[in-house]
Amino acid sequence: MKIFLDTANFDEIREAVSWGVVDGVTTNPSLLNKEAGKNLKDIVLAITNEVKGPVSVEVNGSTVEEMVKEAEEYYSWCKEYIVIKIPMCPEGLKAIRALKQKNIPTNCTLIFSLNQAILAIKAGATYVSPFVGRLDDIGEDGMELIHQIMTYLEEYDAEAEVISASIRHPLHVVATALSGAHIATIPFGILKKMFKHPLTDKGIEAFAKDWSNFIKSG
Ligand code: E4P
Repeated sequence: MKIFLDTANFDEIREAVSWGVVDGVTTNPSLLNKEAGKNLKDIVLAITNEVKGPVSVEVNGSTVEEMVKEAEEYYSWCKEYIVIKIPMCPEGLKAIRALKQKNIPTNCTLIFSLNQAILAIKAGATYVSPFVGRLDDIGEDGMELIHQIMTYLEEYDAEAEVISASIRHPLHVVATALSGAHIATIPFGILKKMFKHPLTDKGIEAFAKDWSNFIKSG
């Protein structure tokens, strides 16, 4: 499973890249809003330079013309790594289709049902992003949607990578890994929790103490 970082914060990205675990990054308008005051192009290029992998940047237009225009501009900044994030809606599907014809990779976002995923995959999305946590929030089963999409891809030999998104806790990461989904996009705070186990902390402390006693004894 590939790990994407779900953030637009450069310090978080640099730290996680230094651990050798980041394959890509997803951003969205809300994550960018946390970096308010900075220039979008500067943020995006700093991320692509650091990550050297797919970086999703979301369009904000509401018509196909607006979306494609924005997409072409963002994509021109770094053709090697930029992926255009497009919201699930009829205009979005038109944009995905048009961008596929131009060989511009897309990530269809705000997917909450298998039917939406089927449409996005048919239209030619490179990635689809089902939002696991937001489904759980309203009492639905987010991981069940990931399983449904993986079954669909397998049954029909369809092409698209599934990004398990809106991850809220480490167990979502475990469930995503076991589902066979291609990618989990993980907030930095949750990535840090993945390190943690009380027995590891206890073990490190005990080994440090024993090492110090051994050195003193010599
Ligand atoms: C990533 O592509 C999504 O935009 C993100 O995971 C949404 O997460 P949220 O539901 O915590 O806002």
